Amino acid sequence: MAKDIYGVNEWGDGLITVLENGHIGLCHPDNPAQAPTDLLSLIQNLQQRGIETPVLLRITDFLKSRIDEINQSFASAIAEYDYKGRYQGVFPIKVNQQAEVIERIAEYGRLYDFGFEVGSKAELLIALSLNLGERAAIICNGIKDTEFLQLAMMSMKLGFNIFIVLESPRELELVLDVVKDSDIRPQLGIRIKLTNTVSGKWAESSGDRSTFGLTIAQIMDVVERLRETGYLDCLKLQHSHLGSQIPSIIEIRKSAQEACQFFAELRREGVPLTYLDLGGGLGVDYTGEQSAAANSINYSLKEYCLNIIETVKDMMDSNGVEHPTIITESGRACVAQSSLLIFNVLEATHFDSEYEVVAEENDHPLLLKMLEIQTYLNRERIQECWNDLKYYREEIRALFRRNQVSLAMTARTERAYLYLMNRIKTVLLDPEAMTEDMHEALVQAADIYHCNFSLFQSLPDVWAIDQLHPLAPIQRLHEAPVRAAILSDITCDSDGKIDKFVLGEGISDTLPVHDLIEGEDYYLGVFFVGAYQETLGDLHNLFGDTNVVTVALSEDGGFDILKEQDGDTIYEVLSYVEYEPKQLIAAFKANVEKAVKGGRLSPSDRRQMLRSYTDSMNGYTYFEHAEH
Ligand SMILES: Cc1ncc(COP(=O)(O)O)c(C=O)c1O
Repeated sequence: MAKDIYGVNEWGDGLITVLENGHIGLCHPDNPAQAPTDLLSLIQNLQQRGIETPVLLRITDFLKSRIDEINQSFASAIAEYDYKGRYQGVFPIKVNQQAEVIERIAEYGRLYDFGFEVGSKAELLIALSLNLGERAAIICNGIKDTEFLQLAMMSMKLGFNIFIVLESPRELELVLDVVKDSDIRPQLGIRIKLTNTVSGKWAESSGDRSTFGLTIAQIMDVVERLRETGYLDCLKLQHSHLGSQIPSIIEIRKSAQEACQFFAELRREGVPLTYLDLGGGLGVDYTGEQSAAANSINYSLKEYCLNIIETVKDMMDSNGVEHPTIITESGRACVAQSSLLIFNVLEATHFDSEYEVVAEENDHPLLLKMLEIQTYLNRERIQECWNDLKYYREEIRALFRRNQVSLAMTARTERAYLYLMNRIKTVLLDPEAMTEDMHEALVQAADIYHCNFSLFQSLPDVWAIDQLHPLAPIQRLHEAPVRAAILSDITCDSDGKIDKFVLGEGISDTLPVHDLIEGEDYYLGVFFVGAYQETLGDLHNLFGDTNVVTVALSEDGGFDILKEQDGDTIYEVLSYVEYEPKQLIAAFKANVEKAVKGGRLSPSDRRQMLRSYTDSMNGYTYFEHAEH
């Protein structure tokens, strides 16, 4: 059945299904009894309203259910193991910075004190404008400049539960510089580089060679420096990012174990840690294989939570350390499933034809031999037929180049080739006839379905890191697909194609598709694109366009500046991701006002904080030199 061809049952995770009418259905995650929404009808309705494909659909119910599931699974694991600490998740804003998504996560997560992880000034400004639960954490990761640190530390006075995670010994000196001569006692975290490596596409973000975090030697230096300056009591959190899309649960356990051992040892050194942040890593089963393969995972969300809680509890108990509050920074697992991209197919290029070519008296002998292939075309001799077909075509092409056959005869041969290719494909519908060479030939001869989307804009990871997303037609799924295709986008770039697909029987180089019907739209859906896909690569962490300067070298060894273009301000990049910066400022102002009313902030602090926030908003997205 067509449903199994695309593996919807395997990867659909109870959210995506195939309806009786052959359309894709979207199921309500919390109410399986509710009739699924017909995706084709939804798209057609949008079309009537003037909203054309390609369209990115964000399904809020999927998002809410994921936030609930993560928090509730941790809560039941805590109850099951009688863990004495709490769980408090944070969402890493870089995984999906869009205002609509962030605001919903804040809303759905308030109940659970779900917070945010920020990796840049722009992301910090977003987090500070949100209405978060009382204990929700804001984890400041990434390399920070003085302006970032000042704003983060002052915002603690507003009641935000902010942690400044030290990524390097240099950053500690910047922090000490900001707090000197003030009464600020910042909440600090320390990012520890785990030695344990994990597998998968993001293996490099773990182990000794990972970019961020302190080595064992540096950790001891930082602890000593904090002790000597009188700030050791501020070090509350240990951050140990396990990785991203970790395929195997055993690897998660091992890394968590190592993180716990560091925690216990640091406690022994007199560091008053109470928060253990295990970063990201909880994966998504994009292929539905339930295996430790790159685009899959061999564990469930429940298992992940149980294993984390069990590991931390066992490790802390064996070290005689109180159970810490556990933080995770699951980005992908929160949002991937909640967005899907729908686009229409514009046209198809076929590399075979049903148009029969019949031998004629004046045909070139090589063409006649080519047409004779039909007389021995069967499963046993399929490879021979394919070899002969290629050979005769190449020979005719060679003769054409040497002016020995006409254009018309060459064209007849090309048509005969396409027809015979079609005949060969028919025999190959019987999978037992398939050899490795023939498989390759078939892929070479696959149709190209030209689709109305840009890979670079909408699915950057498919292009950049061979990320696989489930992909299927959203209609005609009760009809067997009769063709095999790869997909090409509308950018004028040969890389703008998709040629790896998740199917029920495994990963395939072609996608089974239906013939296009004149006058009827044929839509394809790419599922689970909510994480890392919505914002183009160069806006990662909301770092925008850099400043651009055009320079000519002058004769005296100097230079002339021909043109200066200012890079993006934070104000500008925030507008690109659907924020209304004026509203952010207003929301921040309201938070500040609350702190003044509550006596946590003086009126002059208020002025300084507002100035600092608006200065950042109008500043460059990259690091700026501190003003002296
Ligand atoms: C520090 C940190 N936290 C969290 C994440 C999110 O990871 P994931 O999306 O796998 O949950 C990342 C991404 O690599 C990260 O670098």
